[in-house]
Amino acid sequence: MSGRIVRVAAVGDLHCTKTSQGAFQSLFSRMAEAAEVALLAGDLTDYGLPEEARVLARELTAIRIPVAAVLGNHDLEAGKGDEVRQILSDAGVSILDGDACELQGIGIAGVKGFGGGFGQRALGPWGETIIKQFVREAVDEALKLEGALARLRTRHLIALLHYSPVRDTVEGEPLEIYPFLGSSRLEEPIGRYPVSLVVHGHVHRGQLEAVTKTGVPVYNVSMPLLARSFGDRPPFRVFEVPTDERAAGETAAPRSSAPSARTRDVVAPGASRGRRATDTVVS
Ligand SMILES: [Fe+2]
Ligand SMILES: [Fe+2]
Repeated sequence: MSGRIVRVAAVGDLHCTKTSQGAFQSLFSRMAEAAEVALLAGDLTDYGLPEEARVLARELTAIRIPVAAVLGNHDLEAGKGDEVRQILSDAGVSILDGDACELQGIGIAGVKGFGGGFGQRALGPWGETIIKQFVREAVDEALKLEGALARLRTRHLIALLHYSPVRDTVEGEPLEIYPFLGSSRLEEPIGRYPVSLVVHGHVHRGQLEAVTKTGVPVYNVSMPLLARSFGDRPPFRVFEVPTDERAAGETAAPRSSAPSARTRDVVAPGASRGRRATDTVVS
């Protein structure tokens, strides 16, 4: 595993329905061709129905690489999140909910996340009990992410979320719904661990990428957004992540604002100068 670059394919918001048989097999087989690890950033199903999860489980037989996923808000709509989780787990997917896993030498910490808004305008725990409960949910999700990151011992970590940890990937959505699309509270733990990149879904009409305040790249991999943005290729992204320090040393210079052990744009073999090789173009 020493000195290796691992390619990680990511997509979110599949919104698999009961009639989606055959809709994802091509996508999944292309992901397996392009990468060694796949990440699914929530809203795997449309209404959180076990029947939808079973359809997706059958589609996933086309993806012959390790898969880690988080659930999204849609996966909880029917109140059957445990069943959805079990069906997908039985299909071989590592469903992360404040959990961590290591796939091909890459540490992945996953949590659904929650809303609440961003920065100084984020909702605070004040006033009505239900407001405090709402904020508590966001805090709890951030604590779960922190716990998962803390358990990983790999040099390079990926944070896999459904909700966005930053405002900048939400831009493009109606302003009124920003607070329901993510929470800055998720950004806090990301800055305290050697996170190479963050992927999230949920934001169907936002921006493709941004950085946290400590310089960690954040990618919105929502499938509808990718389909609109990259109409000439399958709707997923591929990131190249080094598995150890030697590989990290062979990469391009880290972002000036980031600690040296953190974000880096990986230079893939043969990548043209100036190209962002963390996001390998998949044709
Ligand atoms: Fe979605
Ligand atoms: Fe969502």
